[in-house]
Amino acid sequence: MTIKRSIVLGTGSYLPQRRLTNAELAEMVDTSDEWIVQRTGIRARHIAAEGEFTSDLAVKAATRALEAAGLTAQDIDLIILATATPDNTFPASAVTVQQKLGLTSGFAFDVHAVCSGFVYAISTADAYLRCGMAKRALVIGAETFSRILDWTDRTTCVLFGDGAGAMVLEAVEAEGTTADRGILTSHLRSDGNHRDKLYVDGGPSSTQTVGHLRMQGKEVFRHAVSMITDVVEDAFSATGTDADALDWFIPHQANRRIIDASAKKLGIDPAKIVITLEDQGNTSAASIPLAVDAAVRDGRIKRGDLIMLEAMGGGFTWGASLLRW
Ligand code: ACO
Repeated sequence: MTIKRSIVLGTGSYLPQRRLTNAELAEMVDTSDEWIVQRTGIRARHIAAEGEFTSDLAVKAATRALEAAGLTAQDIDLIILATATPDNTFPASAVTVQQKLGLTSGFAFDVHAVCSGFVYAISTADAYLRCGMAKRALVIGAETFSRILDWTDRTTCVLFGDGAGAMVLEAVEAEGTTADRGILTSHLRSDGNHRDKLYVDGGPSSTQTVGHLRMQGKEVFRHAVSMITDVVEDAFSATGTDADALDWFIPHQANRRIIDASAKKLGIDPAKIVITLEDQGNTSAASIPLAVDAAVRDGRIKRGDLIMLEAMGGGFTWGASLLRW
């Protein structure tokens, strides 16, 4: 049987120049490098410059992904941008990215699933590509969470950072086995009963303001591991694969303790985990493509590798995608 699979042609990422260390944060709020590292694993994060918007970060990551794929923007007919921090309430920042890339053909839209945004976005792109509505997709996760943080709240402001990552995907004919390259399966979940555990206290319809991120950290932690392991196990059982078959486990980079506990529960060898949060913090929808790009560029990810992406975040939303490189 031949089917269509969405394969990755190239990846790219971008971090703003300004690096904010834990020591600098300790001068702003009552915290310490020791507390932040011990509870989260984070040592520094990057912060977008004044006048540098989510779409600017996205364009830089996208340009690098196109270069890596050996393509130009004109080769793309679908742009999906995962973000919870768009430049404006509307238009979608994906359309701004399209314009900044000089593209007037195809179509572009944003996907909003907070920290799970990138998994939602590549699953969406995969569906459009496999059904033939698009040929080549640029999928981007880009965030400027620094703009929605309450910088007086030590329980949240130490956790997040800004950044962007991108992937170029193309649909190709494949055999329909797990030996195929490309996205093999994706599993998405959400449950709005948890909305108050992680949310932004503003918005166009409710307060006519942007608002600030609010979080019940312990509650998020309590649910994260079981939600993550559920969708990863769904991906394993849908494909007849398991933790031993994986080459790389690339989780959303929220917190080192959540990542380690999830990997342990799933029986994943710690040596297979890609970690970037130490120098980036939690960049929400950008964290997975940033981590993938880091592991591609330093040579860890090789053609044929089996890779599990997973995320959990505000909503709650959660999801996993299994792909062969
Ligand atoms: N510096 C110093 N002390 C702090 C800080 C800080 N930055 N933040 C909180 N504290 C204090 C608290 O005030 C509290 O003090 P108290 O006991 O005097 O009241 C104490 O530290 C313990 O606070 P807890 O909230 O119980 O700390 P906990 O061990 O749960 O760690 C954390 C907090 C790191 C947020 C943890 O709950 C966590 O990792 N939760 C998951 C949240 C997360 O990763 N969210 C990311 C977004 S969601 C996602 O992407 C999946």
